[in-house]
Formats: sequence, structure tokens, C-alpha cells
Amino acid sequence: MMQYRFPENFWWGSASSGPQSEGATLRDGKSATIWDKWFDESPNRFFNQVGPQDTSTFYDHFRSDIQLMKQLNHNTFRTSIAWARLIPNGTGEVNPLAVRFYNDMLDELLANGIEPFINLFHFDMPLCMQEKGGWESREVVDAYADFAETCFRLFGGKVKFWFTFNEPIVPVEGGYLYDFHYPNVVDFRRAATVAYHTMLAHAKAVQRYRALQQEGQIGIVLNLTPSYPRSQHPSDLQASKIADLFFNRSFLDPAVKGEYPAELVELLKQYDQLPHCEAGDAELLAQGKVDLLGVNYYQPRRVKARANAVNPASPFMPEWFFDYYEMPGRKMNPHRGWEIYEKGIYDILINLRDNYGNIPSYISENGMGVEGEEKFLVEGQIQDDYRIKFVSDHLQWLHKGISENCACKGYHLWTFIDNWSWSNAYKNRYGFVQLDLATQKRTIKKSGEWFADVSRNNGF
Ligand code: BG6
Repeated sequence: MMQYRFPENFWWGSASSGPQSEGATLRDGKSATIWDKWFDESPNRFFNQVGPQDTSTFYDHFRSDIQLMKQLNHNTFRTSIAWARLIPNGTGEVNPLAVRFYNDMLDELLANGIEPFINLFHFDMPLCMQEKGGWESREVVDAYADFAETCFRLFGGKVKFWFTFNEPIVPVEGGYLYDFHYPNVVDFRRAATVAYHTMLAHAKAVQRYRALQQEGQIGIVLNLTPSYPRSQHPSDLQASKIADLFFNRSFLDPAVKGEYPAELVELLKQYDQLPHCEAGDAELLAQGKVDLLGVNYYQPRRVKARANAVNPASPFMPEWFFDYYEMPGRKMNPHRGWEIYEKGIYDILINLRDNYGNIPSYISENGMGVEGEEKFLVEGQIQDDYRIKFVSDHLQWLHKGISENCACKGYHLWTFIDNWSWSNAYKNRYGFVQLDLATQKRTIKKSGEWFADVSRNNGF
């Protein structure tokens, strides 16, 4: 009996990214990114010292991988175009081998009935652009807009769903605040500039896309972490409101409403942390409103009022305004150390419905990273019942949201084939398809077979 039937034309698929799957990192004209640089400098920061060159080699195997997607009944797939592959110097000349690869890959997807969702930046800043200041530099913002326009012109006939950035807050947090991405800076004011310039870059790309009047939609992919207070006490509520401003609304509001929340601007002004703004920025941001929002959801954020007063001599950080809170009895994914809270997906959709004009959205990532999956091998196949449960529990809440009029159009699992995951490398496996890194052999997991049925039946 079908309990959860989804709307017609629901998108069922999975997501990946160029830097995590393509391989051929320095081949066929591709230039280095910040990941190649960081791995060269600090291999010990990467799990088992496995770096960006060790991927599932999508660059070489995309045709057979797309056949696997077909077997899994995908009607969509997200990946990204690597700036350092398409325009190796960051600006100027386009790499013909990259154009050929992306055209072939897109043609193969389309020929197999799989709609490409294409993202333009997945943490993979070309090294030459980082050397110019990365997102701290307005010159890089302009270079990104040119890269985006090049993509629209080259591939716009094939791609109808574009995304300017994946999780733009992550390079801010990782690279400029919490030291888990290159360039490993810890400085709130610089982080705020990076965040601000990323949204300017986003808005410029949207503006360029609309000027071309192509048939299609443009959006952004945000990792939203619903911010739950420990209690309804006003000080806990205030803590969660501020965490929400820093970690969700700092990107969600400009992306959907075209402007920053006044409360966030006021707060940063009060602590003298506002990034430098120029004339015309506000008008530009107002033009960056998206057609479609990708929502990555993995875990909630739980906070409480700070227990101790802030030392005003310490460097400014979002954590000046709240403490993290571990809810008693919470469910955990012990491998990744992330809480599992399925209802979060529903709460996000209700928030988008009620406070963001019910912007059309889709779940662009959701998934469960598990370490040591080989121990679930039975007769050559990983029996990942935990992943089936994780996905179906989230889909039930997603279904409830849709039945309450939330405009959610699809679901992508993170990820298709186990992939290289930044400094976690292959520590946690996320795929519907198991990758043997040594032989490059792919084997569909039990969850992949389950998902193929869900997609075929448009429900479960
Ligand atoms: C998302 C990213 O944040 O989470 C992906 O968009 C990433 O690129 C995924 O791989 C899983 O993260 P991790 O760190 O658990 O491997």
C-alpha cells in the first residue's frame, strides 16, 4: 500500500560536485584550486592523507555512471562546473577540453532522461583567484560573474536549472572563522566581507543570467540549520534568534528577499563588524532574488543563552551571543557526530512557506555519512538499512510539508557514488553506490535499489 505519494513530476535524484567526483584534478588544462594547494601544504589535515586527486573519476567514467543513475531511476542529477577547469586562469581563455567534457556529460544526462541541475561553485576556488584575494576581492567577484556568464552562454541550451553557489556560508565558516578550509583565517570581519562579496557575486550572476533571457531558472543552494532554543525562556529564544540570523538568514534573506535582515545589519554595526559597502550594492542585491531555492538539510542547531559573560577583549564571534546545547535524548549519527532530527526538514519548508513567500524549493542535499560501511556487506552488497530509514523518515516529513502547501519540488540524496569529502576524504560514505577506491568498482547499495523503487512509484 502506498502511503506517501508525491506530486507529479517530482524530482528524484542525487547530488554531487565537480571537485568531489571528477578527478583529473590537474589534467587536460585544469588549473589548481585551493584544495590542491592545501593538500600539498598540509596533507595531515586530510583523513588518511587522501587528497582531492583521489575521486570516483567521473571525468573518465561519466557515461557508465550515468547508466547507473538511470538504473536508480534518477530524473535529475546535480553536479557542478569547475571554474578552474573551464577557465584555468580564472579569467579570459576558455579551455576547449573542458567545454567538450561538460557538453558530453550534459548530452549524456539528457539522452538518458536525467535533468541536469548545474551549480557554479562548490567550495572550489581556483588558486589563481585565491591569490588575488579570493572572495575578499571585488575583482574576483567580477571574474566569477564572467565565468558564470560563460557557462550560461556555453551550456544554457542544455541546462534549465542553474545554481550560483552551494552552501556559500561554508567557505566563510571554514576558511575565515573556524579553520576547516583553506586559507585557514580566523577573523570575523574578513569572514563578513567574504560572505557579503559572495552574495554580490551571486546577484551579479543572476543579473547576467536574466539579461541573456534564456529559458530556465536560477537559484542558490543553502544549507539551512533550523535554530531551536533550549526552552521558551526569553534569553534562550533570543539566543536562537541570533544564531538564526548569523547562520541562516545571512544568506537566505538576501537570496530570497534581495536584502539583509535589518536586525543583522544593526547587530554588526553595533559591534563594528559590518563589511565595506559601495554605492549600488543594495540595488545589485535586490536583483539577485532567486527563482528556486536548493535546501541542504543534515542537522538542526540547538542553542541556549550564554552561561558566562563575554570577555570583550576576545575576538568577535557569533558564539558571543549563545552557547550550543545538546538536547537530552537526541538521536545522533555517531559517525559524523551530527544530530538526526527529521522534523527539521518540515520546519524549514514551513518557514519558507510562511516567511519567504513560499519560494519554490527542493531538497538539494540530505543524507547520512557512515564510517566503515564494509561491515554491512552481505554477499557483495552493502545492506544500508540505516540509510533507507534515514531517507524515508525525512521523506515522510517532506511529504507532510507538501500536503500543507509547501512548494517543495524534489529530493536529492547526498550523494550518488561515495565521494571525496574535503578534509574528511572517504571517512564517511554517503552514496547510493559503493565505491572501491582502489579498483574504482561501483556496486549499488541496498538503499540505491530502494530509491529506484521510490522514484519509479513516485512514493513509498
Ligand atoms: C555538504 C556539502 O555540506 O555536506 C558536500 O555540500 C559535503 O560537499 C557534504 O560532502 C557532507 O559533508 P561531510 O563533511 O560529512 O563529508
